[in-house]
Amino acid sequence: MRLEGPARGVLGRIRVPSDKSVSHRAVILGALARGKTRIRKWLVSGDTLATLDIMRSLGTKVEREGEDLIVEGRDFEFDEPGNVLDAKNSGTTARILMGVLSTQRFFSVITGDGSLRKRPMGRVTEPLRRMGAKLDGREGGTRLPVAVRGGRLRGVDHFNEKSSAQVKSALLIAGLRAEGRTSVTEPFRSRDHTERMLRAFGVEVEEARTEKGFRVSVEGGGTLRGTEVLCPADPSSASFFVALCLLSGGELTLEEVLVNPTRDGFFRKVKEMGAEVRYENLREVSGEPVADVYVRYSGRLRGVGVTPEEVPGLIDEIPVLAVLMALAEGTSEVKGAGELRFKESDRIRAVVENLRSMGAKVEEFEDGFVVEGVEKLRGSLIRTYSDHRIAMAFTVAGLVAEGETVIDDPDCVRVSYPGFFEDLRKVIL
Ligand code: S3P
Repeated sequence: MRLEGPARGVLGRIRVPSDKSVSHRAVILGALARGKTRIRKWLVSGDTLATLDIMRSLGTKVEREGEDLIVEGRDFEFDEPGNVLDAKNSGTTARILMGVLSTQRFFSVITGDGSLRKRPMGRVTEPLRRMGAKLDGREGGTRLPVAVRGGRLRGVDHFNEKSSAQVKSALLIAGLRAEGRTSVTEPFRSRDHTERMLRAFGVEVEEARTEKGFRVSVEGGGTLRGTEVLCPADPSSASFFVALCLLSGGELTLEEVLVNPTRDGFFRKVKEMGAEVRYENLREVSGEPVADVYVRYSGRLRGVGVTPEEVPGLIDEIPVLAVLMALAEGTSEVKGAGELRFKESDRIRAVVENLRSMGAKVEEFEDGFVVEGVEKLRGSLIRTYSDHRIAMAFTVAGLVAEGETVIDDPDCVRVSYPGFFEDLRKVIL
C-alpha cells in the first residue's frame, strides 16, 4: 500500500471497533457459563474469530441475533474436538484456551500460525502442569503445538513474573475448577478484564496488595451465570487516530472507548507530552469504565519517558507512541519493555528499524529504546513483519511524513481492525 504524505489533518467523530481483549473473554466466559450470554458489539476480526471457531469446535453453540452474539454456555462441559485447534495469530486465544482445556479430561492439541508458534508458552504450560494438567509440546512444552489432557486440578499460588494478563486469565479460569484456592501475583498490574468479567458472571474474585505485588485469587468450584456483555471500543485501535490527530492537526472524538486504568496508559502518556485529551461522558458499561475520548491538536509534543511499571498499561500502544516520540521535542525513552520482543513480531526491532528508515534518531536496547525527536520524518518502505500494530503505527507515520511511504503487508491489520484504512479515510481532511 502506498501513502502520500503529509496529511492535512483530521476532523470528526468515530467509533473504532470493539476491544479485542474484552471480545475474546466474552465468548470464552460465555461458553464456560451456565445459561445464555448475549454479547453486544462483539469485535469481528482475525483474532477473535479464531477464539469463536475454537469454542465452536469444543461444542459451544453460538448464534447471531441481529448485531448480537448469543452463546449457549456449557458450564465447563465441552466435547473433545475432532481436530487440532488453530489459534492462528492470537496469543490471547492460545494461552487462555490452555487454561480452559486444562479443566477438561479429553485430549486436545492447540497450534497457531508461524508467528505464534515462535512465541513463548512455558509461562502458561508450567503453572498449569503444577495445577495437575498434562501438557506437552515442542521444546519441552514451551512452543506450540501443545497437547493438553486436563483433569483433576489443585489450586496454585503463582508469581506471574512478566505481568501477563493472558497467563493470569488462564490460571484464574483453571482455578475455578481446581481444588482450593488459586492466586496469581504480578509485580505490575496487568489488564484486569477477566477479573471484572468474572464478577459480572457472578464469580467472586479477591484482590490484595502484597509485598511482592498485586494478587488476585479465586476459589475452586465457582459457577459462572450467563449474562449480557457490551464490548466497548478498543483503546489500542483508538490510539492510532489520537496519534494522527496530534501529528497532523484537527480534532476528533472517539466514541465509547474503554478507559480502564489498566489500559489507558497511552492517553495518559500523551497528556504528559502536552496533548489535549479529555474523557467526556465517563460511564460504566458491563463493569468497565467507558468514555468518549476528545483529542485536539495542540502543537509539538514534548519528549517523555516510560518506566517499567507503566509498560503493562500501554504495552500494545508502544509502536505508535514511538512514532509520537520520534517527532516530539527532545529525548524520549522506553525502559522495561523486553516483552515487546515476544509479541506478534519483535516490536522493539521493528520499531527501531522502521523509524530509522524514516530518518528518526533511535538507539535500541534489549528492553526498550531511546529516541531523539526530529522535525520531520521522510517516507520509506515499511516492513511490518505481518504485525498489525506495526502496520497501523507506521501508516500514521507515513501519513505525516514527507513523500511516499509503502506498507509491505497492509492486510495484516485484519487481526484486530479489518476496516482500519476505510475508517482513516472517513476522518482525514
Ligand atoms: C492481552 C494481554 C497482553 C497484550 C495482548 C492482549 C490480553 O499480553 O499485549 O495484546 O488480552 O490478555 P500479555 O498477557 O502477554 O502481557
